[in-house]
Amino acid sequence: MSPINNVILNKKTNINPIWIMRQAGRYLPEFRELRKKNPNFIKLCLNEKLASEITLQPLKRFDLDAAIIFSDILMLPYGLNQPVEFKKNFGPSLGNLDLNEVSKLDEVDFVKKIYPVYKAINLVSNNELTNNKSTIGFVGAPWTLLVYMINKQSPKFKLKDNFFKDNFLINRILIILEKFLKLHIKNQINNGAEIIQIFDSWAGLLNEKDLPNYVYIPTLNLVDYIKSLKIPVICFPRGIKNYKSYCEIVKPDVICIDYEVDPNLIRKEIKIPVQGGMDPKILLTEKENLKKEVKKYLDIFKDHPYIFNLGHGVLPETDPNMMDYLVKTVKDY
Ligand code: CP3
Repeated sequence: MSPINNVILNKKTNINPIWIMRQAGRYLPEFRELRKKNPNFIKLCLNEKLASEITLQPLKRFDLDAAIIFSDILMLPYGLNQPVEFKKNFGPSLGNLDLNEVSKLDEVDFVKKIYPVYKAINLVSNNELTNNKSTIGFVGAPWTLLVYMINKQSPKFKLKDNFFKDNFLINRILIILEKFLKLHIKNQINNGAEIIQIFDSWAGLLNEKDLPNYVYIPTLNLVDYIKSLKIPVICFPRGIKNYKSYCEIVKPDVICIDYEVDPNLIRKEIKIPVQGGMDPKILLTEKENLKKEVKKYLDIFKDHPYIFNLGHGVLPETDPNMMDYLVKTVKDY
């Protein structure tokens, strides 16, 4: 069994597996090289050969315990025929959502549109570089996808004032998302994903009173579905603040924490396996400081099932040598 699955299923505490969110990405010169030749990000995600190659790039350099498939949470609205573009120095930019058209969309057409994503997972999980490692598939949580689909760009710090104005639209989208997220998850699993991570990057934008409707209930629904397929699920409700309530209600197999939450409090309050936490900016400092911070997290979670990761994605300006040092420090602990 791969080390990450061993932590999740057998609650092992004497091993320290590691993978890094956005481990396949812009801090790697070999990725930038490929990206330069492929200006259309969506097309790159839909090229199964290149997407699998990019997924494996960090595994060639570092002794990581998982491959996370090179794709994006916004491939889902793309599959629903909402236009999605990634603009330089701006991020994602979405077009209008035609609710009538989306309501009529059938599953076969959705799968046809993003089929190479599943083929890429298949190539990755069958590559010898992933032997004894976990292949991780992922989706955006319904709330975070709703944010992008309605806001049409990253909300940065806050939602538009009229975000919740059209209740009918929101509820329709949530129903459609549930159906297609389940399909997307199932296809990833059928093609070799051994773990699913649910990214709820904008969970922190909601008031406590709105969490049940937009975060807890829709996510619990997906978590139950993934568990029914006998696959472990990791949830990352970034910025949620009250991780304890989230875990009690949503009951993921693993909780991934952000860098703003106190890891000591998490250790005290949470019983399930924990992943992540360290601030990605630490990788922009010196080795000594990095070592100290890595040790801090590993010490705190010494007797707790723990998967090392960061508290958000690795930053594009990170020096790959620091990533190398990070992985070695965790492995030598
Ligand atoms: O982790 C990995 O290595 C796998 C690949 C992956 C990408 N996006 C590739 C990507 C994963 C897991 C994601 C998830 C994702 N996408 C999230 C959740 C995690 C988070 O960061 O909060 C979100 C919110 C998105 C939406 C998205 N995609 C944004 C906001 C952006 C632009 C800003 C940014 O971080 O680059 C993207 C583009 C994107 N997704 C890139 C990559 C490698 C950069 C594309 C480029 O080269 O320009």
